[in-house]
Amino acid sequence: MSIWRILKYPDPFLNKIAEQVPEGEKEIKKFVDDMFETMYSARGIGLAAPQIGMGKRVIVLDVSPVDETAKPLALINPEIIVKEGREESEEGCLSVPDLTVKIQRAQNVTVSGFTPDWKLIQVEAEGILSVALQHEIDHLNGTLIVDYLSRLKREFYRKKVKKMLARRM
Ligand code: NI
Repeated sequence: MSIWRILKYPDPFLNKIAEQVPEGEKEIKKFVDDMFETMYSARGIGLAAPQIGMGKRVIVLDVSPVDETAKPLALINPEIIVKEGREESEEGCLSVPDLTVKIQRAQNVTVSGFTPDWKLIQVEAEGILSVALQHEIDHLNGTLIVDYLSRLKREFYRKKVKKMLARRM
């Protein structure tokens, strides 16, 4: 297993739409292990493949730091098939440092997708798992939490990041 580098906003790769993984691809299992290791080392509760520079529809989640009954979950080619209710919560992202954004999302979702062994499953989620699933699937479609900010706030954040990056050089 190895730890990958997590891309940060404003890396343009984060805005790309990820591609479906061809069904049955065996190498995906090792990649999923790397994603989990990368996520845990960054102390995240979710990670999407585009965040480590891979344009594939793969997400991993482990929300057990927030909900101790939760188990690690990896989904290949996930799709939201049911959305119910509305709920707002404060979200952060490993690719978007020093920012949290209040985002309205569906309260409950049902997501279908494949396990790393290519078994088709459906996951019914509420609470933090529902939020995390929608957040990670957003990444597969090139959407970041900054995209939920007003234009003014987004511009403010973009300038702040630019200044941070300039200071590092
Ligand atoms: Ni994220």
